[in-house]
Parts: sequence; C-alpha cells; structure tokens
Amino acid sequence: MTQEQDAIAPHGNVLVNRIATPAQQADLQAQAEHLPRIQLDERTTSDLELIAIGGFSPLTGFMDQADYEQVVQHMQLANGLPWSIPITLSVDEAIASPLKIGDLIRLDDPTGTFVGVIELTEKYPYDKTQEVIQVYQTDDLKHPGVQVVFEQGSVNLAGPIWLLERQPHPQFPKYQIDPAASRQLFRQRGWQTIVGFQTRNPIHRAHEYIQKCALETVDGLFLHPLVGATKSDDIPADVRMRCYEIMMEHYFPQERVILAINPAAMRYAGPREAIFHAIVRKNYGCTHFIVGRDHAGVGDYYGTYDAQHIFDTIDPQALGITPMKFEHAFYCKRTQSMATTKTSPSDPEDRIHLSGTKVREMLRRGELPPPEFSRPEVAAELAAAMKG
Ligand code: ADX
Repeated sequence: MTQEQDAIAPHGNVLVNRIATPAQQADLQAQAEHLPRIQLDERTTSDLELIAIGGFSPLTGFMDQADYEQVVQHMQLANGLPWSIPITLSVDEAIASPLKIGDLIRLDDPTGTFVGVIELTEKYPYDKTQEVIQVYQTDDLKHPGVQVVFEQGSVNLAGPIWLLERQPHPQFPKYQIDPAASRQLFRQRGWQTIVGFQTRNPIHRAHEYIQKCALETVDGLFLHPLVGATKSDDIPADVRMRCYEIMMEHYFPQERVILAINPAAMRYAGPREAIFHAIVRKNYGCTHFIVGRDHAGVGDYYGTYDAQHIFDTIDPQALGITPMKFEHAFYCKRTQSMATTKTSPSDPEDRIHLSGTKVREMLRRGELPPPEFSRPEVAAELAAAMKG
C-alpha cells in the first residue's frame, strides 16, 4: 500500500524512520564500547523513540540552533513548518566540551542500556528563561515543565539520531502501535476521517462524552493515552490503561475505536503542547484532534480555552490536522446526561463538575467517584488501584 492512500500525509510529507537496520545495528553494537557516551533521562529517551518511529516527523534528530530558535520564538521550524515544542538533547557544559562535531555518540537510557546514537552536527548554548517564557508562559519553578528545563544541562547537542532497535513496550506491548502501523490500520478499516484523543488522566464521563460527540462525525476514534513521563501525582499509566480496557470492553463500539499508547513525556505546556499533541497525532494518521478544556494544562497557568485559541494563530493548511474543540463538559441533573453550556438548559447548580484532582482526593479518602463522573467499573478499578 502507498502513502497516497492515507487519509492525511505526515507532517512535512515524509514519515521518518530512524530505526537501525539489522546491519546498522550490528555495526553500532561493534563500535559501542569505544564511543563517547551520554545517559538520557526518561523524557529524552522517549523523544529519541518518537523521532525514530516517525511520531515527530519531520524531525530526524535533536534540534539544531536554527530550528530551536524558530520554534521557541515563532512556533515553527527553520523551514517554516508549524512546530511548538523544542525537542532538544541538553547536557552539562562538562559533558559537551570534549565532544567534537562529527562524533558519533552513544545514547544510553536511564538504566544504562545502549538504545541509540546521535551524529553530532552542532552544540549550542541556549537561554532557558527565554525558552520557558515563550513555551510555558511562565518562569515559575513550581511549573513541572519549567522545572525540567531549569534542571537540564545548559548546552544543546544537535544531530540526526538512530534508534538501535524497536523494543516491545515493557508494559503495554499489545498497544504499541507505531505511526506506520496505525496508518496501515486506518487504511485497512477504510477510515477517511480519524479523530485522535490525547490524555494523561483516567477516563471519566466528560472524556467519554467529547470522544463520542467527535465520533458521531468521523469514521474512527484513535484513543491515544500518553504513557511516558508524567508528574508524580498523576495516576500511573498501568491503572489508566486498565480503565481504558474496561471502556473498550463495555462502552465503546470496538470496530470504530483503536486504543494505542503514546510513548511521549508530558510537558504540561498547555496551548503550545496542544499544537504539538495535534502534530504528533497527524503523524499517526489522524485527520482531527480533540482539544477540550485546559488541554495539557497544570495548575492555573493557562486559561480554560487558551489551548483552543492558539489554533487560530496557525495556518490551518500548514498544520494539516483539524482541531475539534469542546467546551467544558459536565453532568446535567435536569436532563440526566452529559452536556456543555452549549447543550444544557440547566442552571449552574444543576451541574456536576468534577475535576481529576477532586476525584484523586475522593479516592484517597476511600470514596468512590459517583456514576455521574466515572463509569462504575472504572471507579471500582481506580479505588482498587488506590488501595494498592
Ligand atoms: S491532558 O493533559 O492530557 O490534556 P486530560 O487527560 O484530563 O489532560 O484531558 C484529555 C483531553 O480531554 C483534553 O483535550 C482535555 O482538554 C479534555 N477534557 C478533560 N476534561 C474535560 C471536561 N470536563 N470537559 C471538556 N474537555 C475535557
């Protein structure tokens, strides 16, 4: 099958594949002991993986200064293509200084396993305060994304990468569906329009409501929970995936929904991350992308609909994927159904709004989230997980 049959082209038109062939792999293994070595953190390891599998197409490596500066200042790559989050390999000066341009550098994951290489084309200093103000709209160290930037090294290493080998995901091998495979699945099912859904939280009824509203108007739903690094008080990925399995079994039409993992790390960059999340899902083959309330937000750093408004500042043609925007959904007691202010006739006191934070507090107190918030099987799964 050819790419022309896909519902949407990858960002930049070519689906990147930087997974070493068996011959390259053998060659890299043979050199491994003698190469300069850098240990990646969890986030950079997942960035390496996403570049290699094409999730970050058209990136073929960690960003050079020209791309980095354009992304930070103008939300585009040096070639003008929209891109909102810097993808950088940042190391301390002491690690960077002995490295020479042209070096092949071995990359190890946080456990010390050899996972890939970078061909060093550039090393450059960067302005952390400028980066966080532009990307996160704050330099507050309490912001989890800002914190990561200030803790990382002060020199960015740029260059194309190779992933040594595509390993099955240690926890969710069944749901590891890489962009080439998701595109193929969409083709096999004959889907012309596919809506992607990003999430880092256990599924609740507002999620289900907006997913199903979207599914009313497209051919398929690509449920794509993020399972890379999240902040410590987010619910662990294995619990979230079990909740999704329950939903797939009881509440979704299986022939119209695909569940797969997104190996990326959360940045909590709100509006900028919404654009980034959409581009990644475009690479997986989605034509549409759901953006609800405070998408990828944390605390009070972003306005409720800022992550929707930011799409108005980007050329839709250049972005390619279409955002599907949803208002804050709640349970309406008057109509006994999920709704938003667009569809509910009720007064505010007839609406049950529950946030993920409130639910986590209830679970910690040993209380079950009510059926207006969570499907009962999901509530039971969450309660059991919290008891641990
Ligand atoms: S996120 O950090 O991955 O965005 P979360 O998993 O809570 O967090 O949200 C997933 C998607 O559902 C986002 O698009 C978010 O805006 C949307 N969403 C979450 N809760 C609601 C709600 N009550 N009403 C409308 N959209 C929501």
